[in-house]
Amino acid sequence: MAAKTTYSIIAIAVLAVAGYALVMPRWTDGPGTAPDNPAGEFLVEVTVPTLTGTAKIGETAFNAKCAACHGENAAGLDGKAPPLIHKIYEPSHHGDMSFQMAVQNGVRSHHWPFGDMAPVEGLTKADVKNIVAYVRSLQQANGIF
Ligand code: HEC
Repeated sequence: MAAKTTYSIIAIAVLAVAGYALVMPRWTDGPGTAPDNPAGEFLVEVTVPTLTGTAKIGETAFNAKCAACHGENAAGLDGKAPPLIHKIYEPSHHGDMSFQMAVQNGVRSHHWPFGDMAPVEGLTKADVKNIVAYVRSLQQANGIF
């Protein structure tokens, strides 16, 4: 009886660890992840390209409405929000529509341990399109496409 209970506990523990490992993003996937810098483990180093056109306009909107959480150059901010310059947010996984949805409806925390994202007020669809152009420019300059 006791052995059976012990086995069950071990099985549950193994499942929990495996589940955690599967659900959590792999930090090593991100560009410039710094595993030797635990305080900044969610942050990435971002190469900033020359921004033009809508990407340049999007930068201003991003800095006004998103950077407080997602950090300068969308590199993430400790304790606030993840980097958007990350493999998780490449266009095939998070298309442009997911940015519109995130701004309009907010985001239930599912990839990271930062908590939910509240909807962001005061942006038109066109504003968000510019922000997406900005984020995609940064992603491309950092090998994410
Ligand atoms: C109050 C903090 C905060 C602000 C401001 C904020 N975000 Fe977020 N955002 C988050 C957090 C936290 C997550 C991660 C949720 C998770 O765990 O998957 C997130 C996730 C996202 C995602 C991923 C959505 C998905 O489907 O997984 C996108 C896209 C995004 N944010 C875009 C933006 C944009 C664009 C802005 C500015 C208009 C913005 N965010 C402003 C906190 C914020």
